[in-house]
Amino acid sequence: MSVEVKTICCIGAGYVGGPTMAVIADKCKYLKVIVVDLNKVKIDSWNNADLTKLPVYEPGLKDLIKRCRNKNLFFSTKIQESIAESDMVFISVNTPTKQSGLGAGEASNLKYIESSARSIAEYAVGHTIVVEKSTIPVKTAEVIKNILISSQKGLEKNPSKSFTVLSSPEFLAEGTAIDDLINPSRVLIGGESKTSIDALVNIYKNWVSEEKIIKTNIWSSELSKLTANAFLAQRVSSINSISALCEKTGADISEVAKAVGMDYRIGKHFLKSGPGFGGSCFKKDILNLVYICKLYGLNEVANYWKEVLEINNWQQNRLTNIIVKKLFGTVTNKKIGILGFAFKANTNDTRESPAINICSNLLLEGAKLSIFDPKVKFQEISDSLENFNNPENNSFKTNDSISMASSYEQLANGSDAIIILTEWDEFKAIEWSRISKLMRKPSWIFDCRDIIDPNHFVESDLNIWKLGCGSNIKIIK
Ligand code: UDX
Ligand code: UDX
Repeated sequence: MSVEVKTICCIGAGYVGGPTMAVIADKCKYLKVIVVDLNKVKIDSWNNADLTKLPVYEPGLKDLIKRCRNKNLFFSTKIQESIAESDMVFISVNTPTKQSGLGAGEASNLKYIESSARSIAEYAVGHTIVVEKSTIPVKTAEVIKNILISSQKGLEKNPSKSFTVLSSPEFLAEGTAIDDLINPSRVLIGGESKTSIDALVNIYKNWVSEEKIIKTNIWSSELSKLTANAFLAQRVSSINSISALCEKTGADISEVAKAVGMDYRIGKHFLKSGPGFGGSCFKKDILNLVYICKLYGLNEVANYWKEVLEINNWQQNRLTNIIVKKLFGTVTNKKIGILGFAFKANTNDTRESPAINICSNLLLEGAKLSIFDPKVKFQEISDSLENFNNPENNSFKTNDSISMASSYEQLANGSDAIIILTEWDEFKAIEWSRISKLMRKPSWIFDCRDIIDPNHFVESDLNIWKLGCGSNIKIIK
């Protein structure tokens, strides 16, 4: 028996739901794809005629939206109707770390997953395949199933309502989401019902070769996503720990990373040292893994993974300390330029961005920050700094101490230091010889993303500090 899927719906129009559904709509013109969200402002932005106002910035996304929107791709707040008309419902809502109660600070808060499951239970019609797209703790499918099954018990009026649950975590990385979705390294589908798995495989088969589609049991699928993110984060923490040692010893982290990564058993990816990993997933997923391990009494495993997060925090704090020390031990009332606030290049997302911690530390030290980011809005920056839980409870007034620079000149003018925190390509083209003349002397550039080429600074009186090299920058003449 096969299931015919004509309409699909995705609950959650965020960084995952929006781009994923746009690619599915583009590749499967026969499908009607509806993306729903509780947040009307977000849905209005997805429907904005001006494609530069979409709520998510991703290279290639605008073109997809232009091609598919209001043809077979729809953005709507009509959650009930959309669930009712769909054969398959994806859950792509956020799963933030719990802030209070059992598991606070570690476990994922599943309240949005639960409310989505309850809506599906209530409004679905006929047989519905429910697909978990959000990254969630192992065994979440059990929660979803329980809610769906309990809802069926009182359904004498509509005994034909039935559900199957699949796990199909999304591996896209922000900044390359569209390419990752079009050319995925793999598509993972976990579940028990062969017909439901086949129904999802049939969607992906429109553009992904079958060898790349892995079918597993549902728990392996859920755990694979957490493990993949934990391994990726662990590589970043590993290389960042060595970056500190390079600065002490005179080694150069990019040379070490290249030499290490050329061993095919290690591989070259995810070996770029930087100000620490950010993004909505790594920290949350590792905390989740730690929580689950503790729950099963695996304390040694929990401690092992916790260390990956601790190094990440340490990297951010140590960078602030270096900056303050180089500026004669104080940054009070000094203007510091911040280049880049997004957690990585090619995204407007600032969630868990290392810039938040580093900027907050500098603000606590009394600095005045001038910030430039090509895609992040001032409000977003100000909100993330305001909400950041720093130990001294925001002794500064964020908005008095930060400003948005609209050009590199404005950023540099009168500043003692410029700190590069995001690897935007356009930063590579900055004419430092011109910009640096506007800075107060002695002036410093702290390059935390391997953006600048020290060879361009041979004649310059700028002081340069590079992460993983320190001030011992090798100039190849
Ligand atoms: C995703 C994944 O789903 C999450 O598990 C992963 O770990 C991080 O990435 P993402 O798309 O980045 O989440 O989250 P976000 O951009 O916050 O989008 C989630 C959307 O769901 C929001 O627009 C929110 O309004 C919506 N939502 C949330 C609902 O529509 N209903 C709810 O009940 C809760
Ligand atoms: C990650 C996973 O890569 C993706 O598979 C999953 O679906 C969601 O989480 P994302 O957080 O969007 O994706 O971006 P990613 O490219 O993994 O970068 C995460 C953080 O690590 C960024 O802050 C980035 O700057 C940092 N990073 C990454 C490094 O510092 N060095 C590297 O070599 C790679």
